[in-house]
Amino acid sequence: MSRLVVISNRVAVPSKDASANQGGLAVALLSALREHGGIWFGWSGETTEHFTGEIHRTEGDGVTTATIDLEEQDIDEYYNGYANRTLWPLFHYRIDLTEFERDFAGGYKRVNERFADTVLPLVEPDDLVWVHDYHLIPLGQKLRDRGMRNRLGFFLHTPWPPSRLLVSLPSHAQLVESLFAYDVIGFHTEDWLDSFRRYVVDMMGGSLGPNDTVTANGRTVRAIVAPIGIDTAEFEATTLSDEARFTKERMYMSSTGRSLIVGVDRLDYSKGLRERFLGYERFLQNQPDRRGLVYLLQIAPPSREKVNTYQEIRADLDALSGRINGEFADMDWTPIRYVNQGYPRPQLAGIYRAARVALVTPLRDGMNLVAKEYVAAQDPADPGVLILSSFAGAAAQMKAAVLVNPYSAEELADAIVTALAMPREERVRRWQTLIDGVRREDVFWWCALFLDALEDARVREPA
Ligand code: G6P
Repeated sequence: MSRLVVISNRVAVPSKDASANQGGLAVALLSALREHGGIWFGWSGETTEHFTGEIHRTEGDGVTTATIDLEEQDIDEYYNGYANRTLWPLFHYRIDLTEFERDFAGGYKRVNERFADTVLPLVEPDDLVWVHDYHLIPLGQKLRDRGMRNRLGFFLHTPWPPSRLLVSLPSHAQLVESLFAYDVIGFHTEDWLDSFRRYVVDMMGGSLGPNDTVTANGRTVRAIVAPIGIDTAEFEATTLSDEARFTKERMYMSSTGRSLIVGVDRLDYSKGLRERFLGYERFLQNQPDRRGLVYLLQIAPPSREKVNTYQEIRADLDALSGRINGEFADMDWTPIRYVNQGYPRPQLAGIYRAARVALVTPLRDGMNLVAKEYVAAQDPADPGVLILSSFAGAAAQMKAAVLVNPYSAEELADAIVTALAMPREERVRRWQTLIDGVRREDVFWWCALFLDALEDARVREPA
């Protein structure tokens, strides 16, 4: 098995008690690296006055990490700028929130070059190199420019937007063109892959070939669908840990006789939290008899706090949760417990297990692993109900969930009623279908699917 070099913006610190505010991607990649051996390279999360390319190495829990510090200006223009003010909103269909600053594009290019310069000496000839996510789309091209001949893969964890939206990006042509430096590129769903192919065919005059290949401007790449999963066995075991059980009891004791509806999301406008609160409010309005019998626990650790749109969504949700609680709360009941912090995974597992219903209702999401974790945490004899946005990548695999249009308050309110009233038999039936998929298509399956495709690619001839 070839060694693996994973490159992503954020590198998770390998540790047994990975905290909940690590993105799902981080959790998944750690599992994958433990299996293959190799290096995880990325940004340290720290700033430095002058970029030196000095590499910080850590070894632990079977994973080596190598990270670099970036300058303040890099972080502003690349991470807070191009990645999270330009590409993230655009890729989540939020052109209204997308900022097009030339400085951001410059910082993005510069940091991708810095990544390429510093990672290059760490890579051995037979390594598989796997680049992740929208922060690093041009990295493959930068590595090829520096002579790298390794098999090179790229995975996009966000949606790929329709061409009609993508063309609003001034440098869309170069960005997409740079993807052809990779041997294999992966998307979570057919939808995202389809949008990519359409761009290549319609905008670049490219063509589709056999074996998932896409060709444009004389270059060919394999573009595949590989939906990411979770480490299901590990998460199921975590759910049975003492800490998870204790947390579940704690949840029951804090709300005797009330059904818990849970949401767990990074505080991000793509997650549909505002619409979720409004849907829950509609449920309370429509169902006066059920008030006091349920409560919504929304866990939303803040994220990307330097970006204005994230400050705005936070203020918006503070006001909205306050208004709904003010309107509906009673002396001994709070309809929404809104918590801006993350929890360790065993505690999350306990919360999921205690929850009758999960609301996973992003407006747009590449995949969404909370949906899968919720399913993995359920009691097989008495499982809860997953309410899932049709616009999450996860919906393609999880059709046995209660699927909703997250924009519709009425639909969300109805789905909550349906979920709370669902007979045990139907809950078990739906859950069984869901867990079969979550077990079968877990993170190891995903990893093997992508890496098998990458292994099949040929090491390039010297230029
Ligand atoms: C999403 C992205 C990841 C990112 C994570 C957390 O899942 O696809 O690449 O790491 O969000 O966001 P952050 O900005 O904190 O890294």
